[in-house]
Amino acid sequence: MKKPPLIRIGLLGLGTVGQGVWKHLSRERQPFERRLGARLQLVCAAVQSKKRKRSVRISTTKLTEDPFAVVDDPNIDIICELIGGSGIARELTLRALQSGKSVVTANKALNSEHGAVLFNAARRNGGRYFFEASVGGGIPIIKTLCEGLVANRFPLIYGILNGTSNYILTRMEREGLPFEAILKDARKLGYVEADESLDLDGVDAAHKASILAYLAHGKWVPLRHMILAGIRNLAPIDFSYARDLGYKIKLIARIECALEKRALSIGVYPALVPLSEVIANVDGVYNAVSLTGDVVGSTVLIGRGAGQDATASAVIADIADAVRQRLGHPNGTLSLGASATPKPGEHNQLAKPESIQGRYYIRLQVQDRTGVLAQVAQVFARNKLSIAAMTQFENAHKGTATLALTTHTGNERAIAHTLRDLKRLKTVTAPPVLLRIL
Ligand code: HSE
Repeated sequence: MKKPPLIRIGLLGLGTVGQGVWKHLSRERQPFERRLGARLQLVCAAVQSKKRKRSVRISTTKLTEDPFAVVDDPNIDIICELIGGSGIARELTLRALQSGKSVVTANKALNSEHGAVLFNAARRNGGRYFFEASVGGGIPIIKTLCEGLVANRFPLIYGILNGTSNYILTRMEREGLPFEAILKDARKLGYVEADESLDLDGVDAAHKASILAYLAHGKWVPLRHMILAGIRNLAPIDFSYARDLGYKIKLIARIECALEKRALSIGVYPALVPLSEVIANVDGVYNAVSLTGDVVGSTVLIGRGAGQDATASAVIADIADAVRQRLGHPNGTLSLGASATPKPGEHNQLAKPESIQGRYYIRLQVQDRTGVLAQVAQVFARNKLSIAAMTQFENAHKGTATLALTTHTGNERAIAHTLRDLKRLKTVTAPPVLLRIL
């Protein structure tokens, strides 16, 4: 009997995810090979230091400190880029694609920042670029969006795309503790990225949202054109107020497209989510994505958005697709030559702030004296933003009070002007805190 073809895999990076991929591929190699009709060989991994202790057993002869040696090795067919970031990873990925290799990546920052260049390079070189693990960890969101729901257009995609911030928000809500206290724990548990801004300022979720938006609407939207806010300024009072109103606070990534007007908007921000929404009850490090398709209606996917095993699961799924593609059997998979081609989106425009509607929650610290409430109300009235509810809390420190307000439906322009004007009031003693209401 003819031997099945041999496909050789090289890893760039052997950190948490890389070791997970190596561990699971080694353990399950034979059943996996039978299902793919190919023999697989883990040839080598590029690492920063060969001497570092690792939880998987790998002969040092399979390690190299030169990632270019892996990319340039003519015996390697599939490169798994697990270095992360958009520095050297970009150069290595482009080089691998240009030399005809398949590339599997978990790199959301790279795709978000350089997607146009990388995806074009992938198309020119046979469409061998796979990136399921770059959004939602183990949740097969890319495959669902591009394949399972290919019949649909997507007026709304929203969800929780960052596990670390969801962990912090969940604990703040349950324990009534301040942000800094929970952040310390999250750091100890190793949940927070080295660049903390990625998790705490919504940047990581924005990277992932831009990938989903591109696939759904064919347009790369840079972060500077998104509404982007993080979770650093949330306080226990926001959670108790939200709970009283029937909401939970989640860092939400929201991609909205008015299909007829072709107006696209992307936002990542802390939001009050009604308890009746499935996503309100997705807690801890879990991620969730709700996709509203014009044919299928709503579909919600929930799962582990990070971590060794969940991310390795997505990387290995991509390796399987890369192997099938190399064998000439693309199964309608993620290759950019096949269904991960985005919806044609060249006519989509970015929505204007005044056309992005929503309701808002604002927390204000003000001087506690006659006429202040009237001043605040005037600012809202001047900007045509109607107040729906307002509560005033006495503060422990003398002379100030906290106001928590919700609004009726307004728009992004109105709320931006309202915040600007509130900040200008001398009686407002701290920067206002804004949350959107889903
Ligand atoms: N920092 C990310 C998160 C890791 O917390 O979700 C997974 O992309």
